[in-house]
This record gives sequence, C-alpha cells and structure tokens, in this order.
Amino acid sequence: MPLAFRFSRILNPRLNPSTNLGLALASSFSSSSRPEQPELPGARGGGGGFPATIREGRAEIFADDSNSVFYNKAQVNNRDLSIAVLRSFISRRREEHDIQLRRGSHAELPPKHHAEELGHIRGSSEDKALSEEISYRAPKVLEALAASGLRAIRYALEVDGIGEVIAVDNNEVAIEAVKKNIHHNGSVASSKVVPHLADARVYMLTHPKEFDVVDLDPYGSPAAFLDSAVQCVADGGILMCSATDMAVLAGGNAEVCFSKYGSYPLKGKHCHEMALRILLACIESHAIRHKRYIVPIISVHMDFYIRVFVQIFTSASTVKSSPLKLAHVYQCTGCSSFHLQNIGRINSKDKRNIALPNFSPLVPQECAECGHNFVMGGPIWSDPMHDKEWAASILSSIQAMSCAYSAYAKISAIMTSVSEELPKAPLFVSLHNLCATLKCTNPTIATFQSAIRNAGYQISGSHVDPLALKTDAPMSVIWDIMRCWVKIHAVKYRPGNHPGTRILSQEPKLQAKFSHVPGGLAVQKSPRFVPNPEKYWGPKTKAGRQPKRLPVDNL
Ligand SMILES: C[S@@+](CC[C@H](N)C(=O)[O-])C[C@H]1O[C@@H](n2cnc3c(N)ncnc32)[C@H](O)[C@@H]1O
Ligand SMILES: [Zn+2]
Repeated sequence: MPLAFRFSRILNPRLNPSTNLGLALASSFSSSSRPEQPELPGARGGGGGFPATIREGRAEIFADDSNSVFYNKAQVNNRDLSIAVLRSFISRRREEHDIQLRRGSHAELPPKHHAEELGHIRGSSEDKALSEEISYRAPKVLEALAASGLRAIRYALEVDGIGEVIAVDNNEVAIEAVKKNIHHNGSVASSKVVPHLADARVYMLTHPKEFDVVDLDPYGSPAAFLDSAVQCVADGGILMCSATDMAVLAGGNAEVCFSKYGSYPLKGKHCHEMALRILLACIESHAIRHKRYIVPIISVHMDFYIRVFVQIFTSASTVKSSPLKLAHVYQCTGCSSFHLQNIGRINSKDKRNIALPNFSPLVPQECAECGHNFVMGGPIWSDPMHDKEWAASILSSIQAMSCAYSAYAKISAIMTSVSEELPKAPLFVSLHNLCATLKCTNPTIATFQSAIRNAGYQISGSHVDPLALKTDAPMSVIWDIMRCWVKIHAVKYRPGNHPGTRILSQEPKLQAKFSHVPGGLAVQKSPRFVPNPEKYWGPKTKAGRQPKRLPVDNL
C-alpha cells in the first residue's frame, strides 16, 4: 500500500473507524513524551492495527514497507555526526554572541519575525534579558533533500538553540510523510519543522544567503545541487554535504567524475581521501563563481559515503587566492609515489596575494624512484580538510554527551582519528603498498613511524584507512627509509623491470634510524575504527524502486 494512502487511512477516522488512531496520535505524542535517551534505530510495532514505527535518537517516524519514501538506518552515523557538528556550531555562535555583548556591540539586530517570537519577554526589569535574547538569532536550517523528514525532526528535537528547520523534497509522497512525521513527534517538532514541496535547486536559488545551515544528503552525487547550495548559505554558515557515488569519486569511472565534479580521481589506497578533496574542490569552484569561498570544518569518509562540513564566506579578494588551495596530483604508474602541485602560485613581489598560473610540472617525465610514467589527477583541495579546533570541540562535545548518540562508538572513533590527522599532509601512503612494491617484510607501523620521526618529519594515521600513514616527508625520504629497511630484512624475488627492482638499485641518501620514538599511534588506547553493528550496513535502494532481495531472503 502506498505510504500516503496508508497514512490517510491511519489518520482519517472515516477510513479507519475501528482505531481512530489519528486522534490518538495527536493527543498522546508530544515532545515531552519522547524518550530522553536515543535508541538504536529500528522498526517496531505494526501489530494489532497500529502502524509500525522507526525510532532514531529522540524522533520517531512511521515505517514504510513499500519504499515510497527513502529511509536508511545505516545513515544514523551521518545524522548523529551532523547533530554533533550542529551542536558545536551553535555553541560557537553563542560564544561569539557573548563576546559581542561584552564588547557592547549590538550592531546585528534580529530580523523582525525573531523579535516577534521573543515578544513574551516584557517589562523594564527584563530589559537586559530582552536585549541579549533579541540580538541572538537561532540558526535557521534547510534540509534540502528531506525524504521522511527524520533528519530535520531530529535536528529540531535534539539540538538546543536551533531555529526553524525547513524540510524540502520534490516528491509529494515524501512531503506528505514529513507532515505526518512532524505531527507524530509533537509540539516542538510541529513548531520548528516546516515541510515544503519544491525542487531544492529552485528553493535554494530563491533564498540567497538565508540559511545558517544547509544540509545536502542526496541519492548519489550532490553535484547538481552545489551551485544553488553555495548561494543559499548565510555568511559564516555551514554547508553539510554527503556524496554516496563512491565508485565514481574513487576512480571507478574517471570520466564521469570529471563531468560531475570537474576533477579526475586516481585509483589507489588514498582514493577515499582523494574523493573528499575532489568534493571540497568542487564546492570551492562553485563558491568562487559567486565571490564566496569555503573553509572546511571536518571532512569524513564513513561506511559507504563521504560527508563534508564547510563554512562559507564572501570575499572577492580571498577568492583571488583560491588556486593556492587546489592542486593536481601526479601519481607514478609503477610505484604509486605521488606529488602535489598547486594550480596557482604567488608572485612574491606582488603584495596583493593574487594567484598566478603555476609553472610547468614539478615532476620529471619519468619517476625518479622507479622510472615509470606519471598520471595526472585532480584538481583536488590541497589545504587542510579539517579545522583542528573544530575537530577537538566536536570530539569533546560528543564525549560529553555520549548517551545522546546511538552511533557514539562510530562517531567518537572517527572524530578521534580526524582530530589526530596531520593537517598539512594531503593524501597518504600505505605501508602494505610500499612493502608490496619492494616485496619485503613489513616493518611495524610503530617502527616506520619512528624512522620518519627520527628523520625529522611528522607522521599520523588517517580516519579513512587503518593502514594509512600521512606524513610531510617527501617520497624520496619514504623510499630511502624502505631501502634502509630491506638492507636488514630479506626481500623476495622480483623480475628485473619491476618498479621495486629499480627502487632498490639506488643507494639511500638518508641513513634511516629505526630506534623507537615514543608516542606513536600503536600506544594509543581509544579505538579509531569500529566494525559495522550488523550485516548489510550499506546503501539502500532509491524510494519508489523495489529493494533488491538480500541473500538471506533467498535461503
Ligand atoms: C537520500 S534521500 C534523503 C535522505 C534524508 N536526508 C535522510 O537523512 O533520511 C534523497 C531525497 O532527495 C529527494 N530529491 C531528489 N531530487 C530532488 C530535488 N531536485 N529537489 C528536492 N528533493 C529532491 C528525493 O525525493 C529523496 O527523498
Ligand atoms: Zn615510481
């Protein structure tokens, strides 16, 4: 039965006289009756004439067996992390506002409707409270691709200090479901979440700089929504953006990636970080067309998708240095060594910080390590993809409210890893790959890290891969360390033209020291990677299509 029809039966007493559930729902559910603690997402009920529901966090939505409205419980990680970012955003906004108040600056007055909303604060004795309240504008959120409205409802119920949440979808059935779900979640949801049937692109274009937070969570690629989204975010506001088309972004279909995102991906262990950096570069490329630019907050690869959180600002002069934050990647086809070259360069004699086109390639025709050719990928975002302060504050707020997140284990592990990543070391090498190229036994991660540190460079892990090593050491130093390693550890046979043979035919210029340097990742106790909670934790079929049968159904 289509969802809209099921709901109309449920809520219309004439269609469903025996239960009169519409009235029951309206009266018995309120925000105060929501559970205080979030629960693991899952369907419940559905027996005895009652509709099945799904609870996630403090929200509860009606289940839809017919798949006419999209819902994927695996995205609880995505929604929980977004709530954590929103909480940090609001606490920062409040801090900024408090600083403004202390300085006595009340320059930014609230829009009229907010002053009216605050009309309950009256009387001269409360003048101070009024002026404080009045100049703080609760952040307004747009969930541009809302489906069931679960995310928008969760934002409204779980994020203290949040303002209006507009839930847009272009699917009528979805918007009917959003309405029912808002109503089902009581007065707070009803007063904050506003459903709206529209094409998200048109809606965002017609609401320029209106939202403090714009959330894009599309099927597959967000590319078609980016140009309107970057125009819709208020200055200093956040764009939260997911992409689930990982086969495209990670190099499976390079030409499709170029047509959607304007960048060539490269295959390799670092492909998921490259995917994040391609998405960031794409958002920046749309922003600069409108004299705007991005500042990444955090950028994460989770489960089967990526999600970035970026602030957007307007500045015609900053836009002129955008090419300094973007780079091409030259990757060796033999040994996978990679080198980044910024698209632009600064003319040191010109004080205006304007980027000029960069000089010819920084790599030779053939790889200096193994003699193979390079392939050129990108452009990618080469500036930091996380902000250290944001990452630390998001992590500590997640830890302080551990009970508020059903995906606590996952999102705290990711944020622990993110907060430790070297900020200025785009992409990474994999120790397994280095050893596979040379056909040698692996040093432990701690041993390799010590050699990098002993050579005077920094090293960290990456949240995208437990075997990743991010370092500011050049590839020549990394290979010299491996050359020194194989001098004391046997290598297996390789044919003469093998990249590893060419690499080991050169003597190391650096004498690596493998003596242990304390403080590496191996000694740290909190988990960085956690397994999926259950089977089939992955993407789901689009709404309106029949879900593929899982192998277990065929048994
Ligand atoms: C992946 S679902 C969103 C899931 C939701 N954000 C959540 O957390 O559960 C994508 C939604 O985007 C909607 N959609 C697709 N194209 C759209 C467009 N141009 N404008 C508005 N909504 C659109 C679809 O109807 C679908 O409901
Ligand atoms: Zn090479």
